[in-house]
Amino acid sequence: MKTLENKVALITGSSQGIGRAIALKLASQGAKIALNDIAPQEENLKIVQAQIKNAGGEAKYFMADVSKYDEVEKMMQSVQQEFGRLDILVNNAGITKDRTLAKMTVEEWQKVIDINLTSVFNCSKTALPLLIQSQGNIISLSSFSGLRGNFGQTNYTAAKAGIVGFTKTLSKELGKFGVRVNAVAPGFIESKMTEAMPEEMKVVVKKLTSLGRTGKPEEVANVIAFLAGPDASFVTGDIINIDGGLAI
Ligand SMILES: NC(=O)c1ccc[n+]([C@@H]2O[C@H](COP(=O)([O-])OP(=O)(O)OC[C@H]3O[C@@H](n4cnc5c(N)ncnc54)[C@H](O)[C@@H]3O)[C@@H](O)[C@H]2O)c1
Repeated sequence: MKTLENKVALITGSSQGIGRAIALKLASQGAKIALNDIAPQEENLKIVQAQIKNAGGEAKYFMADVSKYDEVEKMMQSVQQEFGRLDILVNNAGITKDRTLAKMTVEEWQKVIDINLTSVFNCSKTALPLLIQSQGNIISLSSFSGLRGNFGQTNYTAAKAGIVGFTKTLSKELGKFGVRVNAVAPGFIESKMTEAMPEEMKVVVKKLTSLGRTGKPEEVANVIAFLAGPDASFVTGDIINIDGGLAI
């Protein structure tokens, strides 16, 4: 049975990696998909859109830099015009600019905070009226490193830890409207973001992971599909680890 029939889901940063996997998974569950990414990713967005359509689904894409409030506001208006509703917001867009604090520039700090954390404010705030109307839900991508800290990532971990506080607080504010707000904290997932990581680091991470391997974007998408759907109807304010046991 398809659990997301007649639902509309917006997934930020969905032209590749985990975002693409989420879009494909939610589409396979019957959701209509609003894809999003930045302009240089348009060709990849078209490919994801075609994949969804070829599988019998419905998808449109909306170009916006989610760190910019005015662009997000316009995107949300377009989503409403195109689909008439929004049930699921997945705050997935993110970047890293790793460097120890001693070497980190103000720009590297700000950009990572803006794209990983301010984007969650921008998208959640502008989606609120639609989500209240649909009694929908929000799922944001935090990270294992946001919960535990990670060398060379003060900017990224501050943003991802910020998502945890944001999620818990917003879940309290929106509970009375029947809107659920959750986050996931993936461990090491194979994507563009992690492919540049040195091989010796990957060996260490696998060793620390109970399942002894890295994760696939689809394994994150499966948990998000659960959180987005009716089987998670009593789950809110939660942060679910998807890390093969790394956090232990
Ligand atoms: N890969 C991992 O191991 C891992 C672990 C924990 C959390 N995460 C989180 O999962 C999410 C997806 O990561 P991924 O591994 O698929 O990385 P990725 O780099 O493959 O994908 C990120 C996507 O976000 C898009 N994006 C970047 N800036 C944007 C902006 N300003 N506006 C709109 N879109 C923008 C990128 O173009 C890209 O398509 C991120 O939030 C990341 O922090 C990843």
